[in-house]
Amino acid sequence: MTIQWFPGHMAKARRQVTEKLKLIDIIFELVDARIPLSSRNPMIDEIIQHKPRLILLNKADMADKQITQEWIQYFQQRGLRAIAINSKAGSGMREITSAAQDTLAEKIDRLKAKGVKPRAIRAMIVGIPNVGKSTLINRLAKKNIAKTGNTPGVTKAQQWIKVGKELELLDTPGILWPKFEDQEVGLKLALTGAIKDAILNLEDVAVYGLKILEQHYPDRLKEHFRLEAGLSHEIAKIFDIIGENKGCISRNGETDYDKVTELIIRDIRNEKLGPLSLERPEDE
Ligand code: G4P
Repeated sequence: MTIQWFPGHMAKARRQVTEKLKLIDIIFELVDARIPLSSRNPMIDEIIQHKPRLILLNKADMADKQITQEWIQYFQQRGLRAIAINSKAGSGMREITSAAQDTLAEKIDRLKAKGVKPRAIRAMIVGIPNVGKSTLINRLAKKNIAKTGNTPGVTKAQQWIKVGKELELLDTPGILWPKFEDQEVGLKLALTGAIKDAILNLEDVAVYGLKILEQHYPDRLKEHFRLEAGLSHEIAKIFDIIGENKGCISRNGETDYDKVTELIIRDIRNEKLGPLSLERPEDE
């Protein structure tokens, strides 16, 4: 999905989330486990105000398990509960409810003490495009979509998805914008496939990908692209080596640089080098 974010669109997106805050008990902030900070909305704290929040590190299957654990600790140290999930395969789904209950434990206990029987927790998913919001909603929804609010006098039909007895989810997620004014964030979003069109120079994206690999996964870089000396040559030469090793050669026998560019990006996105975490707490 491609969304051009202009100030008017951002204001509207923000308003849509703000309006729904009063309906819910907790926000599920969905981020990409491979780039947990770059895939966040830069104004999230301001937008959701003091609403309790659970961070869902989605696409955990595509990220480095150990680094994802480090991110969970990173958020924990900042007072935010985070869990790793894979919406595509459906793992971590049960934990969402229990983590939401934990996050709201004080409030639930207070109500219980007053003799109020706890009702299902109401939640809303927010996140940037392509982070997996629809996949997660579909996964949690199964067939349990309950229509409410379509009675006379209720202006807006609001659908709640029942997830077991203890959780209800708004069926429309809040779509927020990424921190695209930061060049590095843009490159990471492009590398993970969150931005698919050529807003960015693809060669820059590919070179950035190689540099991240050299920094964090030097062995995989060398092995996959058969770059024995890593990135110790100039970039054109590196592209020549990859082109030759991977058959990206044009008819006249020269390196097809566009093909090499595409191949590097595609292989990183499609896990040809295995699960990769493209940012780490220690880099912060
Ligand atoms: P959005 O609503 O936030 O915009 O995202 P959406 O659910 O459409 O998901 C974007 C892509 O991410 C989808 O790929 C989806 O299958 C994939 N995805 C979502 N959650 C996970 C996950 O936990 N693990 C993995 N591996 N993939 C996940 P798609 O529809 O196949 O799009 P594309 O591959 O054609 O780009």
